[in-house]
Amino acid sequence: LEAARPSRLGLDAFLEHYGDVFEHSPWVAESAWKQGFTDQHDDPDVLADCMGNVLKRADIDQQIAVIRAHPDLAGKAALAGELTQDSTREQAGAGLDQCSTEEFERFQRLNQAYQDTFGFPFVIAVKGLDRHAILYAFEKRLENDAATERQTAIEQIIQIARFRLHMRAAESA
Ligand code: GUN
Repeated sequence: LEAARPSRLGLDAFLEHYGDVFEHSPWVAESAWKQGFTDQHDDPDVLADCMGNVLKRADIDQQIAVIRAHPDLAGKAALAGELTQDSTREQAGAGLDQCSTEEFERFQRLNQAYQDTFGFPFVIAVKGLDRHAILYAFEKRLENDAATERQTAIEQIIQIARFRLHMRAAESA
């Protein structure tokens, strides 16, 4: 009988499939592969857990670099059409491409206030949220301290990665 699991992907093939799951940060996938935890690459939750653990155990500087790799929500890069495919899809899925002028200006004010307070952009897993829920969460999270917000951002980024991995699995099924 054939093995039920696909054979282990080589590093190049693994990065081709999963290198972009963490926004502009392929080192997360590479490190997970090098630790040998990625054999069950057909299971999105297993992959999300092992790549997520790499990020959780990374230095604070590396964590902040991954947070900073994210574009602002409804920000200038989004307006200019300069986002990654995943980011474009996620922001549109939450209706962020349909903000009124007032909502758009509110996002710009909040993005700036958040960046001024924490030194990195506001990141939230937007799946299942509309722009009103996102704006509400945005104002709430501005009240947190920096360590809590860094921790929250990392958890949200792992949640985004989990969702992206499920999308990849569904698309290749
Ligand atoms: N949540 C899901 N996608 C994104 C994104 O592109 N940027 C930010 N800041 N949060 C997100």
